[in-house]
Amino acid sequence: MDLYEAIYNRRIVRDFKDKSVPDEVLKKIIDAGLQAPTHDHLRNWEFVILKAREDKERALQFVKQGVEPTLEILKQTLVTGTPQQKMYAVAMPRQYSMLMNASHIILPFFKSNSGVMNPTSVSSLNPLSSIWCVIENIFLAATAEGLACSMRITVGEEGENVAKILEAPENYLLPCYIGLGYASDDNIEVEQVKYTAEEKMHYGKW
Ligand SMILES: Cc1cc2nc3c(=O)[nH]c(=O)nc-3n(C[C@H](O)[C@H](O)[C@H](O)COP(=O)(O)O)c2cc1C
Repeated sequence: MDLYEAIYNRRIVRDFKDKSVPDEVLKKIIDAGLQAPTHDHLRNWEFVILKAREDKERALQFVKQGVEPTLEILKQTLVTGTPQQKMYAVAMPRQYSMLMNASHIILPFFKSNSGVMNPTSVSSLNPLSSIWCVIENIFLAATAEGLACSMRITVGEEGENVAKILEAPENYLLPCYIGLGYASDDNIEVEQVKYTAEEKMHYGKW
């Protein structure tokens, strides 16, 4: 797949087919992640891969099972809400299932330093910025392979708790969980707010 095609086709999905991703494809996708730019030239990233149901359940114990959108207000939001509200209405009930039902969960750890949790400037966040370059490479490589990803930010102490039970070294942090798999045919396509490049470009000054 052409790079631009992958960029335009990439979507976060939240429903997967019950189909396993082959190991060699998974490795290719992680290897694409490893090609990302890195702030310290060291690529201090490690990936915990979960496939077995019990391993996924253990790591997801801190993610609350989603509520089904049975509440009238949630159903109504899906129809009349703003695109952002509609996205939340689709996403929130699926935060657990979109990871549990993925073929694999990828946990992308990055080596932190004292600046990340106590930043004094944007550059203090470089380790975090770098891992997000890795994550985007993973998303695009997955798309190029005909796969898709779900993704959840680690909220509150989720990341720390997961790192602990997976025995990650203390200075490694987990920015998000990634679910990897084959997108279900009836995935809800979440409406996107579209912008043109011209609207966002400011020549010379803002
Ligand atoms: C920093 C960041 C945090 C996000 N957090 C979540 C999340 O916790 N749960 C979720 O379902 N989606 C999450 N998303 C996915 C966004 O909802 C999604 O990217 C956005 O709605 C645009 O849709 P698209 O990725 O399909 O273009 C996150 C995306 C980013 C970049």
